[in-house]
Amino acid sequence: MSPTERIPTLILGGTGYVAGEVLRLVVGHPNFEIAGVMSDSQPGEPVAKAFPHLAAVLGDLRFLSEDDVRSQLAQHPRSAVFSAAPHGVSAALIDRLLGAAEAAGTRPRMVDISADYRYGTAEAYAAVYKHAHGAPTRIKDFTCAVPEHLATAPTPHVAHPGCFATAILLASVPLLALDLVTPTLFVSGVTGSTGSGRKPVDGTHHPTRHSDLYSYNALVHRHIPEITACAAAATGITADFAFVPHSGPFARGIHATVQASLKGTTHGSSSDTATLLARLREFYAHSPFVRVLDSAPRLKDIVASNYAHLSITGNGRTVAVTCVIDNLTKGAAGGAVQWMNRLFDLPETAGLTAPAAGWT
Ligand SMILES: NC(=O)c1ccc[n+]([C@@H]2O[C@H](COP(=O)([O-])OP(=O)(O)OC[C@H]3O[C@@H](n4cnc5c(N)ncnc54)[C@H](OP(=O)(O)O)[C@@H]3O)[C@@H](O)[C@H]2O)c1
Repeated sequence: MSPTERIPTLILGGTGYVAGEVLRLVVGHPNFEIAGVMSDSQPGEPVAKAFPHLAAVLGDLRFLSEDDVRSQLAQHPRSAVFSAAPHGVSAALIDRLLGAAEAAGTRPRMVDISADYRYGTAEAYAAVYKHAHGAPTRIKDFTCAVPEHLATAPTPHVAHPGCFATAILLASVPLLALDLVTPTLFVSGVTGSTGSGRKPVDGTHHPTRHSDLYSYNALVHRHIPEITACAAAATGITADFAFVPHSGPFARGIHATVQASLKGTTHGSSSDTATLLARLREFYAHSPFVRVLDSAPRLKDIVASNYAHLSITGNGRTVAVTCVIDNLTKGAAGGAVQWMNRLFDLPETAGLTAPAAGWT
């Protein structure tokens, strides 16, 4: 593909937070060009009404209907489609759109940011989400992985593993892949309020969350099977993840700490923090968005960027790895753009290198 070619890009999930973040990244991307944003509830309305922070660059762009998106897909021989629709909606919507593209003889590439294509089987999905999968025959066309843990997707489309999963996998996979720990990992993760989406719900609404910190769904969070499956695909090890999620009093960001027991500390020096830091840096040496720090990472250094900051500490038999990411960027829209870059053979970093704002 020529460096100046622009790929028509469609976003599903219209007025949602993640769709807005995909839009923010795509309008600044050198190779993707907005062909439309689909809204189920507001077709025909100005997109800038939902995302006033993007108004300066959107002009009179208006939300598309599903029919509009189908005709866009039929027009363009190839296109990029990001789905930020809710789980339980995304699979069937993608299926209908891919069907329309197939009928027109065009070849869109999809990255689904919802949970719908994260599982290898419809049964595994239904066991966790308690409803039937929306398009079981499409599952084989999607691969779910953190881009840092799989160089090339063997399928035409990709499923993003999600925000908590991205942070936890970035911290855990090196420990397992390098055979440093016994495969029981204790995870504490704190997420900001944008992780719950745009619609205010009692329990995740700002007045409930601000100035407070509390855990929820301890050891039974529905993302645990997704994290377990992705870690197994990346390392060949089926580990136990004992995960306690928390609600944090901030809008954007995930702060996850993984602790585990080191193997072989009586014989070697693997608990030495300097050695562990060197191993972790080497593991991510070719991952442009992962930075391994000497000191504890902080949310403000990554918020609104696609970077993940990690630290690692060893003491005796225990190792602790902390990872911070932005849930909407690296944990959703940015990770999805990173995958889409790869699906179109673009540099992995295209459109994604802007640093964090620092003081948000
Ligand atoms: N928030 C995060 O940090 C995060 C991180 C990783 C993954 N995710 C996943 O990304 C997706 C979007 O999350 P979000 O936080 O942006 O949620 P959100 O703010 O609640 O937005 C979801 C949007 O989906 C659209 N929608 C609702 N029903 C629909 C339907 N029947 N058909 C088509 N579109 C429909 C709605 O926009 P319109 O009515 O305008 O279409 C809604 O605003 C979810 O699947 C979520 O699990 C979220």
